[in-house]
Amino acid sequence: MRSPVPRGRIREVRFASGLDRSELVVVDHRDLTGPNEVLLIEPDQPVLAADRVRHLHEPVLLLAHPSREALRRAVAAVEIVVDPEPPVLDFTVDPPPGGVQYGDDNVLKRLSIDKGDVETALAGAARIVEGEYRTGAQEHVYLENQGMVAWEEGDVLVVKGSLQCPYYVLKALGHALGRGPDRVRVVQAPTGGGFGGKEEYPSLVALHAALLARKAGRPVKLVYERGEDMEATTKRHPSLVRHRTGVDVEGRLLAQDIEVVLDGGAYVTLSPVVLSRAIIHAAGPYACDHVRIRGRAVFTNSPPYGAFRGFGAPQTIFANERHMDVVAAAVDLDPIELRRRNLIENGQSTATGQVIDDGTDRTALLDRAVELSGWHEKKAAHAELARRHPWRRRGMGLACFHHGAGFTGSGEVVLASRVDVAGLADGRIEVRSGNIEMGQGTLTVFTQIASEASGLAPSAIALAEPDTARVPNSGPTVASRTVMVVGRLIERAIEDLKARLGLPPDAGGDRFAEAIRAAHAERGEAPVGTATYQPPPGVEWDETTYRGDAYAAYAWAVYVAEVEVDLRTYTTRVVDFVALQEVGKVLNETLARGQIQGGVVQGIGWALMEDVVLEDGAMANAQLTNYIIPTSDDVPPIRVTFEETPYAHGARGAKGLGELPIDGPAPAVVNAVARATGTRPTTVPLTPERLMERLEEGRADVA
Ligand code: MOS
Repeated sequence: MRSPVPRGRIREVRFASGLDRSELVVVDHRDLTGPNEVLLIEPDQPVLAADRVRHLHEPVLLLAHPSREALRRAVAAVEIVVDPEPPVLDFTVDPPPGGVQYGDDNVLKRLSIDKGDVETALAGAARIVEGEYRTGAQEHVYLENQGMVAWEEGDVLVVKGSLQCPYYVLKALGHALGRGPDRVRVVQAPTGGGFGGKEEYPSLVALHAALLARKAGRPVKLVYERGEDMEATTKRHPSLVRHRTGVDVEGRLLAQDIEVVLDGGAYVTLSPVVLSRAIIHAAGPYACDHVRIRGRAVFTNSPPYGAFRGFGAPQTIFANERHMDVVAAAVDLDPIELRRRNLIENGQSTATGQVIDDGTDRTALLDRAVELSGWHEKKAAHAELARRHPWRRRGMGLACFHHGAGFTGSGEVVLASRVDVAGLADGRIEVRSGNIEMGQGTLTVFTQIASEASGLAPSAIALAEPDTARVPNSGPTVASRTVMVVGRLIERAIEDLKARLGLPPDAGGDRFAEAIRAAHAERGEAPVGTATYQPPPGVEWDETTYRGDAYAAYAWAVYVAEVEVDLRTYTTRVVDFVALQEVGKVLNETLARGQIQGGVVQGIGWALMEDVVLEDGAMANAQLTNYIIPTSDDVPPIRVTFEETPYAHGARGAKGLGELPIDGPAPAVVNAVARATGTRPTTVPLTPERLMERLEEGRADVA
């Protein structure tokens, strides 16, 4: 049972008279045996609202019944009575009097990056180009909705369900239930898509299922229906980004002054870290000596926004890459040439002062992507089409971008992830990690990595079920870290197992299997190798000044979109798409290609059609009939090309690639629409309605 209003004080929970309450299990905040807090970054979010509600659909009361029909009758007979208060729904303006609900000013988190002297550099610029860009929320639309089963096994409370981070759920359960880690257990069920939506939210679902199971004294299953899932759970943070850019007459970036504002929603959840990734990627893959980035995540009475593939970077990369086209026009340069003049060369540094020297030739990536796309040939054809055709318009757009893999800054050190590899009695090995499969290919690639590192056949590799009673904490399955970071731990744990068995590092295959069998026979138990995260040498990050190596490694990409706009219906179709990226070594081409294509489709959806309509701060179009996502008919063949510069500290030379492909499509597509139509769209999703408004404004300007 959820809050009927976005903000207010709970007056009472009213049960209709005559409701049959036999076998009905009712849980509220008083049933918690620990603090009423969903443990994450700040303890501000209650598991169940006690006296006030801060967003529409905030959970207040839980009901369970053995009969679904009886449960439905009970739900209809319970009313949450709230005295409403005026909500704060616009994250782009200061809160009205009485609207402050967090700290002094509703700002959940402020972060900034400073490099050089922006004001002086702007004063000396030949041109200063300003722009303001907005992005909307986005729904994950994972295959299966949030769901969890909870039961008690003796003294231990077990939850099993759809989730990305078993140890996040474990900590949240232990905290709010007041139980030690030996009295809670979390098991991941193979998960049909997460995209970040199964990153932090499952802790809340698990707590609700656990509270009900404990009170009922029997197992409880809690699975959201799609509408509830869309209305109540996290989405991508809406954003507003402002740019003020100084360039010289040749189009070289002299200063980037960037303001980033994210809508955080009603609780802190992961917004500080999303903001961090947003600002670190905000200046793009360009060399500029003077950069100032001011970021803030702001409280509103919306359901909390949360982790979504890209984690803040797609928002700021959309703004930056759209803005680069505007800058190019201002200095009368081709958008390719503007970027070529500014891309980071080896030895130059990012906005945080991180010197990039990874051997990747970013200019060559740009030239190759442009060539693959047929940019120059198509440009002439598009001009010809516009001359001859009354309503068909085509255009090309591109985006250059990077994405840091793994946790930001010292995050991986703090995580201190661990992987164990056990030798089994029959000579096979079992990899024990908390990293999970959600359709992206963890099981396959972990098997490959372990097979190659051990010299054992893939059939001799077992992967332990992600169960906190069986696997160590190898960190969450997020942040494009699974293959690069955790895969490397698998390699090192295998090396450790070999060393423990007295084998040299290059001993593999039959000799390794034989040593495992012998150790087993001798000790009567599995020999176990282990590895704990060690930062690559030379990676230094200052969390207080936001200076240094924000990520151990970046993937680099150039995406090019060709679109066709129908001037009668304002519909945009993407007719060709080139996705070129350098991701270190590609370990499994089929899966890597699938990740890229999936991310591009998700990015095209965010760019053109996925429109979260907010009413009272929450999603009003919570059905797949009117929250439109791309089907196979809406996307062109996506031409994926990998360049490979092996990364010494990633498994088999790999860097992370899971999030990268969501960053580039929106700016590439919207830049293409801008070229096709001669307008300057600044907002995603660029729905037909929004494009129509843009075009009609443009006509008014001309008149
Ligand atoms: Mo997350 S958005 O699954 O890093």
